[in-house]
Amino acid sequence: MTDENDLLRPQDEVDWMMSMHREPETYEEGLTSTEVDSLIRFYREEELMDRCSETNYGNIFKFSYYKEDRIFGIIENAVNKLIGTGWKFESGRFHEQKTNRWTRIHTDTAAYAPPGLKNMAGLQAWIKEGNNKDLVYIPWRTFLFPLEFAETHGASTVLFNQRYYGIESIRWKDYGLNGKYIGEVLNYKEGYNIDDDIYEKYLKHCTKERLQGLTVHSCYDWKVGGCFEVDSNQVHLGGYLSNPPKMCFIVRVSYVENKDENEVEI
Ligand SMILES: [Fe+2]
Repeated sequence: MTDENDLLRPQDEVDWMMSMHREPETYEEGLTSTEVDSLIRFYREEELMDRCSETNYGNIFKFSYYKEDRIFGIIENAVNKLIGTGWKFESGRFHEQKTNRWTRIHTDTAAYAPPGLKNMAGLQAWIKEGNNKDLVYIPWRTFLFPLEFAETHGASTVLFNQRYYGIESIRWKDYGLNGKYIGEVLNYKEGYNIDDDIYEKYLKHCTKERLQGLTVHSCYDWKVGGCFEVDSNQVHLGGYLSNPPKMCFIVRVSYVENKDENEVEI
């Protein structure tokens, strides 16, 4: 077995993740207006303190959240309200898109990496050198709570049918360019498969070349106070944004069985 294979997710974990696959859920009521306001205020205060990082050449500003007490009650209440208590918080992030040029097609599966590990090489080194494999969690669901956008123009998220069960998040451009990812993409479909009307409304910020291999599952039109819940392993992308910015809060969780009996701490 090579070093690279040591980093693969074990097949029994992949089997379990696939058995847990669920369709996305769209909720009209995810957060109260008070909770929305509190989250926005928290993010803006972090922004003022220069704690939001700029990524993707200024297209995205984010604040990664690792369970600080001040807003965790809001997260806990919201997710409990939607799916009950059988989950464990892994990470959260405020995500503000300031331009309409963000085209990262991706999964949300690499949230276990500590802050500062920004790429696959760093992730592999962290696991290998630190013998941290036991800390690699098994992703389950991602919750997207829209917080702010221009309601006159709309904001959206596009969910594809493709899924990936490796230990790292996919970035579709990279996959297409050099195939460096160490697992197979489920439901990969050769060629370009997007309907013209969907492309024009939701995907025209991407070249058709970049969308090769993908099929659209659904498009979620954002609603402040609502929520979009998907498998963290399912490939997705922010929809075309004609009037930036837009901002949301994202929560990534793993699955906990019989949480009350086991007294698993969140
Ligand atoms: Fe994402």
